[in-house]
Amino acid sequence: MKALFVLSLTFFRVYFNQFLTSSFLLGIFICFFAIFQPDFNKPCFTTLYSSSCYDCMRYYSIEEMTTWERFYRANFINSLSGFKPVSLVSTINSDGIPNLALFSNIIHLGSDPALIGIVNRPREASPHTLGNIESNGLFTINHVHNSFVEAAHQTSAKYAYDVNEYDEVGLTAEYKQNFSVPYVKESLVQYGLELVEIIPIKANNTFLIIGKLKQVFIDETTVSHDGFINIQRSGSLASLGMDAYYETIPLKRFKYAKVGVPAPELSF
Ligand SMILES: Cc1cc2nc3c(=O)[nH]c(=O)nc-3n(C[C@H](O)[C@H](O)[C@H](O)COP(=O)(O)O)c2cc1C
Repeated sequence: MKALFVLSLTFFRVYFNQFLTSSFLLGIFICFFAIFQPDFNKPCFTTLYSSSCYDCMRYYSIEEMTTWERFYRANFINSLSGFKPVSLVSTINSDGIPNLALFSNIIHLGSDPALIGIVNRPREASPHTLGNIESNGLFTINHVHNSFVEAAHQTSAKYAYDVNEYDEVGLTAEYKQNFSVPYVKESLVQYGLELVEIIPIKANNTFLIIGKLKQVFIDETTVSHDGFINIQRSGSLASLGMDAYYETIPLKRFKYAKVGVPAPELSF
């Protein structure tokens, strides 16, 4: 009887100790969540890319880069400047056939006058957009969305001069507001430009084509009370290098920065 009592007591003490340990660990766990309130639904740099490591930074010299295989070097250098816009530039040739070309080097040059530049590769590599703009002076720029990213990417293939790339990739040419160059109907952010200047860049035979803004088509509900366009609401994609496309997540907006005063946040 005594042995049975001692055995029961031993079991009780072991289980009671385990209960206390588990309760203690559970308490720590609850306190951690209460204090730090981690939001696992909200992707952020560290949750998405925890493998990035500041101590792993490695030095690459230009001498080393020039020894790399051509496509490896191009991928590396094309990604280096970071995320860019990506849009379809639409033009028509002198026979009236519409042309599409994917561009990511699209630069805001100023808002008054409203000027936008696109960087065209050397003429031998990408002749049609450049030649069409030279001949009739008009082009449209159309944001790319997830719904037609494959078709948009396909326009970067080297189609012949007389191929209608809208028909070829399955996109719709939309002519409107007396603009003689079509817009991509599937795009939710479209704008039309008139040629101002083409600047040849001697360093690498590329061209900066500068256009003056003539008209914009966009869903009015994406425009904030202060004129800011929430292009992420239209699902416009960003790009990196020559083959990668990204959706975007808004982070923060700030008021105009002034020296010595932390800029207050603005709403989207
Ligand atoms: C993601 C991506 C971005 C590109 N960005 C540009 C660019 O900014 N400028 C350019 O000249 N070509 C760019 N290209 C290549 C053109 O789309 C490609 O040369 C196209 O065939 C040009 O056609 P075109 O001769 O009808 O103008 C890009 C291609 C891809 C896939």
